[in-house]
Amino acid sequence: MFTLAQAPAADKAESYRSLREQAQALLAGERDFTANAANLASLLFHSLADVNWAGFYWMKEGELVLGPFQGKPACVRIAVGRGVCGTAARDRRTIVVPDVNQFPGHIACDSASNSEVVVPILHGDRVLGVLDVDSPLRGRFSEEDARGLEAVVRHFLAATDLPG
Ligand code: SME
Repeated sequence: MFTLAQAPAADKAESYRSLREQAQALLAGERDFTANAANLASLLFHSLADVNWAGFYWMKEGELVLGPFQGKPACVRIAVGRGVCGTAARDRRTIVVPDVNQFPGHIACDSASNSEVVVPILHGDRVLGVLDVDSPLRGRFSEEDARGLEAVVRHFLAATDLPG
């Protein structure tokens, strides 16, 4: 296990390559959706520096419902369009928020969170859910983090049997 610090972009790219390799090893030989999501949340939480929450929300009957995560207990249901998670799901794009206090409608599950990145999990036309990673540091996440986490999500989708 390694630590992904707030490194210069080139180092960060290398660190994310290494993180992807760890994710590949962790998910190899297992295609169960819940098991892979739970292990991935744990890998991200313990590998990324300065992170206080990492996990998933899944789209269920038109709203986001809390899935496997690491960190403090979180709000269970988020409407599409609400908060950072709901906005990423509605717009189907990754959102990097340098300061959550400046994001209109941000949902403060853990008051320690000051920045976050949310990656939508898309399969064809469907929004399966989102990956949410939070940090107590302002400006913790860059575009490099966004691209790195998107690549991890792509691997999760390829390595896992998705719910019907
Ligand atoms: N902050 C998120 C809610 C999820 S928790 O942080 C785990 C949001 O505004 O969508």
